[in-house]
Amino acid sequence: MRTTITTSYKTAAEHISNGQIVAFPTETVYGLGANAFDGAAVKKIFTAKGRPSDNPLIVHVADIGQIASVVSSMPRYAEKLIEEFFPGPLTLVLPKNKKISSLVTAGLTSVGIRIPNHLIAKKFLKECSVPVAAPSANISGSPSPTTWQAVKSDLNGRIPCILKGNPSQIGVESTVVDCTGNTPVILRAGGVTLEQLRKIIPSTRLQKRQQTISKSPGVKYRHYSPMAYVFIVSNMTETVPLKSSAYIGLHNNEKNQFGLKKICRTEAEYARSLFHFFRECDKKDIETIYCESVSEDGIGLAIMDRIRKASYQ
Ligand code: TXA
Ligand code: MG
Repeated sequence: MRTTITTSYKTAAEHISNGQIVAFPTETVYGLGANAFDGAAVKKIFTAKGRPSDNPLIVHVADIGQIASVVSSMPRYAEKLIEEFFPGPLTLVLPKNKKISSLVTAGLTSVGIRIPNHLIAKKFLKECSVPVAAPSANISGSPSPTTWQAVKSDLNGRIPCILKGNPSQIGVESTVVDCTGNTPVILRAGGVTLEQLRKIIPSTRLQKRQQTISKSPGVKYRHYSPMAYVFIVSNMTETVPLKSSAYIGLHNNEKNQFGLKKICRTEAEYARSLFHFFRECDKKDIETIYCESVSEDGIGLAIMDRIRKASYQ
């Protein structure tokens, strides 16, 4: 299959109307979309990514008015979260509307919904005029793509169209919040922080680890992994083999001459750079990546989640 790479959101939306799949930019990571009402189109996403069929997809819409076609009901606290954080890096899990293909939700009765805060994504979604189901646009298991070039390197020849945009500004995926119970529960840390959510709904809590899998099947799979071994370090004192190792963190590690090194000025820059760095390491055949741990507040919670998952063998 030939992959068209375009800057035209109209060309991209035509693919959706024709039952095809399209990669598109968002502020978190690039997504791989299909018409959420069209089961045959949604199936193509799972095939292109090699994604297990029990891992549900997030449905993306252009504006708040479109949410009613995706969900069947909503608690008051979810309305408040929507008012505050949509559009943005937040996905709310709500009871699903019948029209949404059960392939999207992997047979669950709930559906994840999000409005990206990204100009091209919004124009594209508006032009599609249907909700667009989309996971991250990477081969299953590899780091999520934060550039169109990363999408191309994973999916060239496997999908018909990539809508080009700038590098994703946030760099880690949306926060997934279960809104099917009495209070919001975070299933996956991401771009909107626990502290921000608690300012609006103080009872918001984190899902306990062992319960997360039954609530959000996707989290059990190996994720975000580069080819290299990933180690989490707090204070690197040992000396490591030079060229084949890499380091990313907030503090400079003067002792070692790494093959690749990224010193981030802020946690936000760390989040934005992480997946791109993993991919750069793979290109350079780095064997071991040392990631500096950060405190688990603010966006640090999402950073630690991603580097932990990347470090599982
Ligand atoms: O930022 C993002 O969320 C990106 C962009 C493209 O929007 N998308 C993304 O999708 O990261 P994906 O498929 O890579 O991750 C979706 C996560 C999975 O962990 C999945 O289990 C969870 O959301 N999820 C989706 N629908 C769900 C549902 N109905 N109930 C529980 N978890 C759900
Ligand atoms: Mg993903």
